[in-house]
Amino acid sequence: MAMTSMLLQAQGITKTFVEKAGELPTLRNVSVHARQGEFVSIIGPSGCGKSTLLSIVAGLVTPDEGRVLLHGNVVTGQAGLVGYMPQKDLLVPWRTVLDNVILSQEIAGVSRRAARAKAMPLIEGFGLGGFASAYPHTLSGGMRQRAAFLRTVLFEKEVLLLDEPFGALDALTRSTMHEWLLGVWNKLSKTVVLVTHDVDEAILLSDRVYVMTPLPGQVKAEFAITLPRPRLYDLVLTQDFLKHKAALLSALRDSVALAGAS
Ligand SMILES: Nc1ncnc2c1ncn2[C@@H]1O[C@H](COP(=O)(O)OP(=O)(O)OP(=O)(O)O)[C@@H](O)[C@H]1O
Ligand SMILES: [Mg+2]
Repeated sequence: MAMTSMLLQAQGITKTFVEKAGELPTLRNVSVHARQGEFVSIIGPSGCGKSTLLSIVAGLVTPDEGRVLLHGNVVTGQAGLVGYMPQKDLLVPWRTVLDNVILSQEIAGVSRRAARAKAMPLIEGFGLGGFASAYPHTLSGGMRQRAAFLRTVLFEKEVLLLDEPFGALDALTRSTMHEWLLGVWNKLSKTVVLVTHDVDEAILLSDRVYVMTPLPGQVKAEFAITLPRPRLYDLVLTQDFLKHKAALLSALRDSVALAGAS
């Protein structure tokens, strides 16, 4: 096995969806990577192919061109190797919250009893206290999202792919989940690839941020976020933060203007 600090690589990913209505070029020659332990975000306008890219990296969708490497090994089209939280929460309606969050462990062969015992103490920290035996349809959108996030964390892969995991959360819960995510990332030395619309979120959490263009999605720019860690919330008010934000917003705007002109 090729040892490399380059944990995850997507190289030259191109994807066109073919529908009855015609062809939709969705991703064009997209390359992104994450080093071991790195926190990387992908930001771009709605519909630019971010979720498609993440599902290709997760091995659930096959690209037309390009490949995905994990630890230097080609894993294109192989599912189950990384933790993946899709944009839609995909909770199983007939399972309780607790039994939803342990689903991936059960599939991996852990006994339901052991998996429940492990998940139970986390339920409260995720703001789901008192809802362990509730069914998904009785939860708010934010609670469903947190349950799906907890399930992804409990899957225990070294890579976490998160597709707008906090999109439906209010600002306060969102900041609690940010702290939690950074804690998981730190303690368990995970590698995270996060898709988000939220520029502040991308800067606050990431080591690097990719900016994508509108359809067909391409990587337009890449930013290193050099702000020191640990990052606390008042960081968003500092000059340094605002400098990063201005650069990112301007790259996002340029990418949209570029697409409009072509
Ligand atoms: N399975 C599919 N079949 C056909 N078209 C698809 C499929 N999946 C996505 N698309 C199309 O590809 C384009 C990109 O979709 P995608 O969901 O990747 O965008 P996104 O950047 O995640 O958007 P958002 O920010 O709104 O979540 C869209 O035009 C979408 O309609
Ligand atoms: Mg999406």
